[in-house]
Formats: sequence, structure tokens, C-alpha cells
Amino acid sequence: MISSSDLKKKYIKFFQKRGHKLIQSASLIPENDPSVLFTTAGMHPLVPFLLGEPHPLGKRLCNVQKCLRTDDIEDVGDAWHLTFFEMLGNWSLGDYFKDEAIKMSFEFLTRELSIPKERFSITCFEGDKDVPRDDEVASTWERLGVDKNRIHFLPKGDNWWGPAGRTGPCGPDTEMFYHVNDLQEKSTEEFSRLCKDQVFCEIWNDVLMQYNKIAEGKFENLTQKNIDTGMGLERTVAILNGFSNVYECDTVAPIIDKVVSMSPGKTDRANRDARIITDHMRAAVMILGDDKGVVPSNVDQGYILRRLIRRSIRHAKILGINGSFCKEVAEVVVEAMGESYQEVRRNSKRVFEELDNEEKRFSTTLENGTKHLERELQFLGEAGQKTLDAKGAFDLFQSFGFPLEITVEMCREKGFSVDETGFGKLMREHQELSRRGAEQKFKGGLADNSEATTKLHTATHLLNQALRAVVDTSICQMGSNITPERLRFDFNYDRKLTDDQIKKIEDWVNNVIKAEADVSFEIMSVDAAKKVGAQGVFEERYEQTVKVYTIAKGGTIYSREICGGPHVKNTRELHSFKIIKQEAVAAGIRRIKAVVI
Ligand code: ALA
Repeated sequence: MISSSDLKKKYIKFFQKRGHKLIQSASLIPENDPSVLFTTAGMHPLVPFLLGEPHPLGKRLCNVQKCLRTDDIEDVGDAWHLTFFEMLGNWSLGDYFKDEAIKMSFEFLTRELSIPKERFSITCFEGDKDVPRDDEVASTWERLGVDKNRIHFLPKGDNWWGPAGRTGPCGPDTEMFYHVNDLQEKSTEEFSRLCKDQVFCEIWNDVLMQYNKIAEGKFENLTQKNIDTGMGLERTVAILNGFSNVYECDTVAPIIDKVVSMSPGKTDRANRDARIITDHMRAAVMILGDDKGVVPSNVDQGYILRRLIRRSIRHAKILGINGSFCKEVAEVVVEAMGESYQEVRRNSKRVFEELDNEEKRFSTTLENGTKHLERELQFLGEAGQKTLDAKGAFDLFQSFGFPLEITVEMCREKGFSVDETGFGKLMREHQELSRRGAEQKFKGGLADNSEATTKLHTATHLLNQALRAVVDTSICQMGSNITPERLRFDFNYDRKLTDDQIKKIEDWVNNVIKAEADVSFEIMSVDAAKKVGAQGVFEERYEQTVKVYTIAKGGTIYSREICGGPHVKNTRELHSFKIIKQEAVAAGIRRIKAVVI
């Protein structure tokens, strides 16, 4: 039995021996790349270096990266697709190229892992009007001993990787497939069919990264030729142990076993519902456990997270798992993943709480929403229609919190389709509105420079910090609105604050007021602002420099935040601070109204 951790060690050791430096896994939530929601590959955090920026550790790197992809979410439940997975990767940043990369891949697979070369099929780029067919790559594989008949040329849809977002480094690739049943395919057509039937499993991809896709959709030559490789950890562990699917891998199996044990009926590791729950809960725990602190919501990463949790809940109901189950499964995920990703252990309390809350929120509406949808479908059926329109699907989302997949699945089960394109359009409009709402925090109220609002601006910074100091370090500002009468502050938190917490927050702010702290600002680069720990939304910023306000006395810094101002000069001007109201705005978001008197 070879474990995930054995394979990681072997991989890293192999590449370190060949001059690669080990880098840490980056967060699942990408930094400074608003065009993608999650880190989908090990190359993602390396984009600047693939584009030519020198990397501090040199030109050869390797790592194990936590990745999340939702494009294949429909396939989850089959043998090989996972939403969250770990990727082993090695990179050449303008150092070695095709020949050496392929030789290293081949050597690792056949010598280190002792996989017979007869079990491989290889794909290469067949060429198009922009880039020629990659005969060079094919002949390298042949020279290494791969049978010519098992080397296939495929078009861009198959053998071209990247960019990860809208723009960035990309190129043709060569992919390594393992034949689960040790059969010999007779043609490229047969190979493609066997891939669909999951008789082949892609385990490694060597991307020959030579192009930069620019905003207009054109491909420019990169200043340096790079190698970017990615090996699927769970898949490779599975095939090395002779398993026919990823659910047998040691970082997945205990989770599916837990789900199976909780199901009242007869279920096993092959059950699609159990597999979906396993995959989605594993992904949800890894998102929630990331230090970036994403919580379920209706926008961006929070919406993906919500979909994963809610879909798990629905499939749990199908299996007959009644009552709450998320936390119990999540505990097994933390156990399975916590060794490699300490942050998941560190954040486990938040993970469990968020899962519990989301489960409570959704369980109550799932039943009502199901009844509502069944009635709708009955009407449609009676009217001889077979498609639920976009508004119908969007109503289910808004009133009952049904993510699209759930509506689609339920409709499909009853022989109906859904206007998914129309839904997508309504959803984008909805998310755009929410995002604009969030951006108001940089615009709203800042034009009013009256004395009263100026005081409340400073009080808002103090409240923001007090919430983190007193209640939870992951709290951040979700919205702010200031009138001369009061401040209004929205933040990510899912419970009512207790009287004791309210009192402690007020005391924290009043102590800073009493300390007569100075309020000053500095203009600095976004990077410098990050370095000094300023609060603010960095991902949405396009400007180069920002204004950072600091509230401090002597050596003590009470608050540091990106803001346009205006602010008082000294906190004594606020006299005293009082919270007058708290309420819930949306699931996971609370609002405080406060005054200075
Ligand atoms: N970036 C490449 C992939 O994800 C290696 O397949």
C-alpha cells in the first residue's frame, strides 16, 4: 500500500534531487487575481514568474498544491473526478524544456513508481493554424520506449492547457494516461472512447508553456519557455494501489466510509450519492478551513461553498440520512486532511460552526422548496411543457436557497429541463448588484465632510477593529453607511451578539477614545499597505497607491485601514461611543448601528 504521504515524499525528493526547490501550497483563494475564484492548479500562484519575474528560489520549483475545480462538478460521482484535489507539480521557469521535462516524468513514473511503460498512453497536441503539431514531443516519448500506437494527437480542446483565468501563460501539453485494465487501444478514436468510459485515467500533464494569452484573445510568445506540470495525487495513489477510483485513496476513503456508515439503507463506496457527499464535504471543509475565511453566501467563493454544502445536504436526504450530518462528516475530513494542511485543524471550530449554520438554514427550506418545485412541475406538465423557465429557477434560488444544480437535478429526475442560460443571466445581474453593494463601502458617505460624519468615520474604524478584537478575528467589513445621525456597519458573522459582547465592544472603542489616540494617514503602495497589515479589500483594488489611516498612541496601534477619509485628528473628539441596534441583514451577515455622543 502506498499512501498519499508516501507519494508526496517520493515526488518531492525526486525533484529536489534534480535541483528543484520546494515551495509551500498557496491558499485555495487566489491573491490578486479577481478573474478566478479558486486556485485550480499549482501554476496559478506562479503566474508572475512564468511571465518572467525572477523567482527568489530560482528556476526549478516543485510543490504539493491544494486545488479546487468546479468545471467538472457534474462528473463528480464517477471514478476519477474530484472538486477538491491535491496536485503534485514541478516547474522550469525558463530553464529546462520539453525533452528534459518528459524524461523526468517518464523516469519518475517507471523507475520511482515502477509503473510498467506498457500501461501508458500519451496524448500530444495535433496542431492548428497558430501552433504546429508536436512531433518533437511524440518522438521523445517513442525514444523512451512508449509504443507508437499508444501516442495520440488531439486538438486544442484536449491538449492545450491554460490560461488559468482569462489571460496569462498557457501552451500545448502532453498528457499521461494510465490504462486501468491493461488493454491495448487500436486507434485514437478508441482511446477517446475508453477515456470516456473511464478505462483510462489521466494522471499527469506536462504543459509546454510558451504563450501568453492577452486580453484581446491573442497568443503572444512568452519571453521565456516554461514547463508546468501537474499530477493528480488522489488518482495516482489509487492506480498505484490497484484501485479503480479515487474514493479508495487514503485521504478520501475514511470520509466515504463515514457517509456510508451514516446511511440507513444499503450503501457502499460505489454509490453516487455517497460519493457526491464525500467530494463536496471534503471541498467545503477545505474552503472553510482556508485562512482566508470564506463563508457561505450568495456571491463568488461563498456561493460555490454554499452550493457544495447544499448539494451534499440534498444527496444526504436521498440516502435517507436525516438530521444534521455535516459536522460528523467534517470531523473525518479534518482528521484526513489536517496533517498536511494545519490550517484546517486550526480553523476547525469555525468550519464546524459554519457547516452547522448552513445546514440549519437550508434544511428548513429544502422541504418547502421541494414541494413548491413539485407543484410548479405539475402545472407545467399539465400545460404540456417540459422546461422550467429562468424565473422559476431563480425564484427557487431566492426564496428557498436552491442552487441551480439542485433545481436541475430535481427537474431532470422528473423529466424536465431548466433554462440554465437564462438563470445564469439573472444570477449574474443579482451578483453584480451585491458586488456593487459591497463596493459602496469605498464610495458611500465619503463625500459628506460634516463634523458629525467625520467622527462617525473614525468610530467605524474603531468598531471594525473592536469586533475582531472582542468577537472573532475573521470578521471583516461587508458594508458601511454613514449619515450625520449614526453609523451603520455590516460584517460577516452569523449569530446575534450577546449583551456581554456588545458591552465589551463598546468598552474597547471607549478605551481608545479615552486613550486620546492620534489619527493619521499615509499614502503607500498596495503592497506596503498589505505589509503593514492594513484592513481593506485588496482583491478589488486597481489603483497603485492607497491612503492608509492609522489610529495609534505611543507604540500601540489600535487600527489600520485603507480609507479615503475624512477622519478626526484625535479620538478624544468622539467623546463616547454607543451601539444602538444590531440585526441580521442576510445569512451570515450582521449589522450594527451606533452613535457617538
Ligand atoms: N497546469 C496544468 C494542469 O493543471 C499542469 O493540468
